[in-house]
Amino acid sequence: MALACLNAWSMKLPPGPPPADNNNTMSTPSITKAGRTAAADDQLTPSRKDTDAKNVLLLGFDWGTNTSCIQGTLPGSTELAVNELVPTVVGYAKDGIVSDLLPGNAKILFGQVALKHRLHLRLVAPMANGVLKDMGPARDFAHHLRSLIPNAAGLEIRSVIGVPANANNAAREGIRQTVAGIFQRVILIPEPFLAALGYRGENQLSSPGYVDPVRNSLFIDIGAGTTDVCLVQGYYPTSEDQISFAFAGDKVDELIADGIKKTYPDCELSILKIREIKEKHSFVGQATQPILVSVVVGGKPRKLDLTEQIGSACNALLTQIFEAVKALIPKVSSDSVSELLQNIIITGGGSRIKGLDTELQRLLAEEGFDQPVVKTVGENYKQYVAKGALKAAQQAREDQWQQLLS
Ligand SMILES: Nc1ncnc2c1ncn2[C@@H]1O[C@H](COP(=O)(O)OP(=O)(O)OP(=O)(O)O)[C@@H](O)[C@H]1O
Ligand SMILES: [Mg+2]
Repeated sequence: MALACLNAWSMKLPPGPPPADNNNTMSTPSITKAGRTAAADDQLTPSRKDTDAKNVLLLGFDWGTNTSCIQGTLPGSTELAVNELVPTVVGYAKDGIVSDLLPGNAKILFGQVALKHRLHLRLVAPMANGVLKDMGPARDFAHHLRSLIPNAAGLEIRSVIGVPANANNAAREGIRQTVAGIFQRVILIPEPFLAALGYRGENQLSSPGYVDPVRNSLFIDIGAGTTDVCLVQGYYPTSEDQISFAFAGDKVDELIADGIKKTYPDCELSILKIREIKEKHSFVGQATQPILVSVVVGGKPRKLDLTEQIGSACNALLTQIFEAVKALIPKVSSDSVSELLQNIIITGGGSRIKGLDTELQRLLAEEGFDQPVVKTVGENYKQYVAKGALKAAQQAREDQWQQLLS
């Protein structure tokens, strides 16, 4: 990972870093970790606004396994021209469907509409474990998002795209190829850093007591495919600053499904139903009351006690997160670790699991860490990566954009 890339646009650092990408061919400036940490004390400022050009539409794009978000601004405006959350799913009409079943007799539908008509569609999720797995549907999906941007005809579209913290070169190249011809220029940046940038309250930076999440925090992004745990210390995170593992919402769904199968072998529930139940009842720690869920099996109503199944699946996720956090904290310099412990932030859909912040905080305190404070970003979690990506796009220098050949 070209670790110094982001510094140039976000801070006063030596000029000339390359785009925030692995495959860039430009030279990487040599900035030591110490140098970068010191630079974090500087005011974060955009270095140049070449992208204010008249015909450039800037986009922040969170391409999530479960849900994607785009936010964009038209040339010369800071108002959002597009702000869309779309379930990352593509539905292709099944063969032999009678007319007028699908809206407009569409052959292909996306997001909520695809989910609504799923009976008559072959549903494809283009992402798995945070990376693109199916280029055709992924490209169809990107085209669809592009079509949601109003008044974009004739504009050059430049998009900062979030990638999982540990995305390798192949995954990055896959994204570039997929969006070639749909967007004209891109920069790929790790999602936890973008989440921190999106969560950052610029108007609070001068308030006493406000700890800037971009300056010194530990971000935990629990998505559908991956959980990313990442040190964010004012510079572009290196591979050593992050741990990413494919245990997140989808895996929790699987564990709950396995648990239900064991206890109630005659109750086959769809994964969508299990996800719905999880999102309503998820918790970590001890259950405060039994979780009794009404379902319909084989046309008959049933009431299932799912306390144990949901609790053990969510607690398994908590254990993995705790281990990752424990492994990362010792890498932080002794000068900044106390402040960082006060700024452990959980985002992504998994942050909505009840009690996750207090339980993680309790485990860290029991482990002997100095007064840890864990918080969650709240219900707007879906937008922070895209918001951070748009901020990054607005601040990027001209030479940081990678041109895509269609
Ligand atoms: N209340 C909740 N309790 C537990 N899990 C939840 C809750 N709300 C959402 N989730 C889960 O969060 C996950 C989706 O989170 P998010 O939208 O951050 O994922 P994503 O960005 O699409 O995935 P990724 O970052 O891995 O590519 C899903 O597994 C969803 O079921
Ligand atoms: Mg995500």
